[in-house]
Amino acid sequence: MGDRRGSLGVVTHPSPGGPRDRLGRPMHDLRISVMDRCNFRCPYCMPKETFHDRYRFLRTSERLGFNEIVRVARAGVELGVRKVRLTGGEPLLRPRLAELVGELSLIEGIEDIALTTNGVLLAQHAAELKANGLCRVTVSLDSLDPDVFAGMSGGFGGLEDVLHGIEAALEAGLGPVKVNTVVRRGSNDHTVLPLLERFRGSPVIVRLIEYMDVGNRNAWRPEEVVPSAELLQRIAARWPVTPLPGSYHGEVAKRYRYEDGAGEIGFISSVSAPFCGDCTRARLSSEGVFYTCLFATAGTDLRGVLRGGASDDELAGLLRTAWTGRADRYSEQREALRRGEQPLQKIEMHYIGG
Ligand SMILES: C[S@@+](CC[C@H](N)C(=O)[O-])C[C@H]1O[C@@H](n2cnc3c(N)ncnc32)[C@H](O)[C@@H]1O
Ligand code: SF4
Repeated sequence: MGDRRGSLGVVTHPSPGGPRDRLGRPMHDLRISVMDRCNFRCPYCMPKETFHDRYRFLRTSERLGFNEIVRVARAGVELGVRKVRLTGGEPLLRPRLAELVGELSLIEGIEDIALTTNGVLLAQHAAELKANGLCRVTVSLDSLDPDVFAGMSGGFGGLEDVLHGIEAALEAGLGPVKVNTVVRRGSNDHTVLPLLERFRGSPVIVRLIEYMDVGNRNAWRPEEVVPSAELLQRIAARWPVTPLPGSYHGEVAKRYRYEDGAGEIGFISSVSAPFCGDCTRARLSSEGVFYTCLFATAGTDLRGVLRGGASDDELAGLLRTAWTGRADRYSEQREALRRGEQPLQKIEMHYIGG
């Protein structure tokens, strides 16, 4: 897209050796939830019994505007952020999302801008997103069986639209496209092999995600988690695989390559093999709360501060305080925390940003 830096007047200077949290973790990734609404009702994320027609989502004015998001991202870059991921809810429901991508792409120091989407609206937007500086896209797709897909998405959205979205992303040059598949025992685990088969030998990398106890609404039960080790066994019995070395510090997926050369798959095992020790991710919710953990119960409100006229230094100071005070490692403490007397009031995933 050429050098567009300067048209916004945004030039930040990355600070090597940014702050570390109380467990020595640097801040490297910023996940931004740009939209709390979604056009799916995946029962493991936004069950329709709770997120029904009368559910009160944020009003437009309650969501951070693009300028506010960009200011937080710039402050993050000062503290070490190099990767930004736009997510939600469904980020493609946010009007003019490509403009935000364009603005973020002007921030010096951001090396990677990615998007996680359910893919239904992707075909319409892929080319413009790419032209504005989006680097990569991850599409969530839990099954190729139409009935199972409908069950996993709450009956909304079309499988064919998602597949078109993946094709469009590849055509737009947003590859390698990753596909995220949440695996839930008894729901879609029997359709994992056909899904892998479909994408073997293509530029699409499937990542199998253990079903997690995000938020409080999905009635998570440990029995429904299919541990990655079990899935790996099932897969290797069909297509032998070899582990790949990690490509960078903080990589969440454990990667394997098919020995017959048909590509690779990843496993995200935050239940059976938590990776909190390497967690370099900060999160910004759609209404401007800064969180340091996907399973957080509280965060730092930035919207009030942004709208109250805070300077860039004050904003960066708030992020620094939140990050350096961080000691959370929920997934490593899951069992003990779940045994606690008071259930944790975790922030819902569509809101904090998956
Ligand atoms: C919350 S979604 C937001 C972006 C977009 N709507 C999508 O589905 O890709 C981000 C990712 O979180 C995953 N996710 C949601 N709930 C989950 C859960 N309970 N366990 C594991 N992954 C989950 C989704 O499958 C998706 O890949
Ligand atoms: S996982 Fe994504 S698509 Fe499904 S309900 Fe949550 S936000 Fe929507």
